Amino acid sequence: MSKVYTITNQKGGAGKTTTALAVAAGLSLKGYSVLSIDLDAQSNMTYTAGAKADGATALGVLTGEIRAGDAIQKTGSGGIIPASKALAGADAFITDTGKEYRLKEALEPIRGEYDYIIIDTPPALGILTINALTACDSVIIPAQADIYSLQGIEQLAETMKPVKKYTNPDLTIEGILLTRYSPRSVLSREVAELAQQIAGKLGTKLFRATIREAVAVKEAQISQQSLYSYAPKAKVTEDYSRFIAELLGEE
Ligand SMILES: Nc1ncnc2c1ncn2[C@@H]1O[C@H](COP(=O)(O)OP(=O)(O)OP(=O)(O)O)[C@@H](O)[C@H]1O
Ligand SMILES: [Mg+2]
Repeated sequence: MSKVYTITNQKGGAGKTTTALAVAAGLSLKGYSVLSIDLDAQSNMTYTAGAKADGATALGVLTGEIRAGDAIQKTGSGGIIPASKALAGADAFITDTGKEYRLKEALEPIRGEYDYIIIDTPPALGILTINALTACDSVIIPAQADIYSLQGIEQLAETMKPVKKYTNPDLTIEGILLTRYSPRSVLSREVAELAQQIAGKLGTKLFRATIREAVAVKEAQISQQSLYSYAPKAKVTEDYSRFIAELLGEE
């Protein structure tokens, strides 16, 4: 049975997509079978993975028109169910009873085929994020190392409460991952302390691994490659490898 992670933070630009892509690529390099799911109408993950958004997409899977297995495209880092702009209307399309369970149900027939399923979410707390939270085992919260980003995390915890109560009682928060982090600045250390406190309040941890700011991230995105193929030796790629090892409890 696969382990399903949702990468989420309703704050835009927190590093969700970058983290989702890096984790999928890193796990895939370790030999695991990985499925990525792009639930964001911006389709950033779909674009960077080099997948097409004009065929079967996550929206069709959510509305039940397409089986999840028929929407999977092959990428260099396993499979992906792509997003499309039409996902922006999901809150209007997906309204019937049981709407929170659409993704969970759709994934049931294929869960056994993957070691890991990584879900990228939009910067919003609507039906798409609720579907992701209902379908997953645990949540990874990337946060840019600044005060506003961290404040948003407490709001996310509020959203998770009803999900835990009604649709996914076993949901856990794996931890908070600081992105675009520069350990040398005093400000960053203060932010890390605050993040640690927030993690404590949410009953989760702050990952020891942090992800540094690096141009390789944007360059890899522009060239539609994963960090692991574009810049396998870059320090930021090593940061993600450390994070993955921590996530898997390998250290
Ligand atoms: N470690 C990093 N170093 C440099 N730039 C980064 C890093 N991580 C992310 N970025 C850049 O910051 C921007 C936001 O990152 P990303 O798209 O991963 O965030 P997101 O949370 O998915 O955003 P959204 O909420 O819009 O989906 C992107 O332009 C990305 O290239
Ligand atoms: Mg994104």
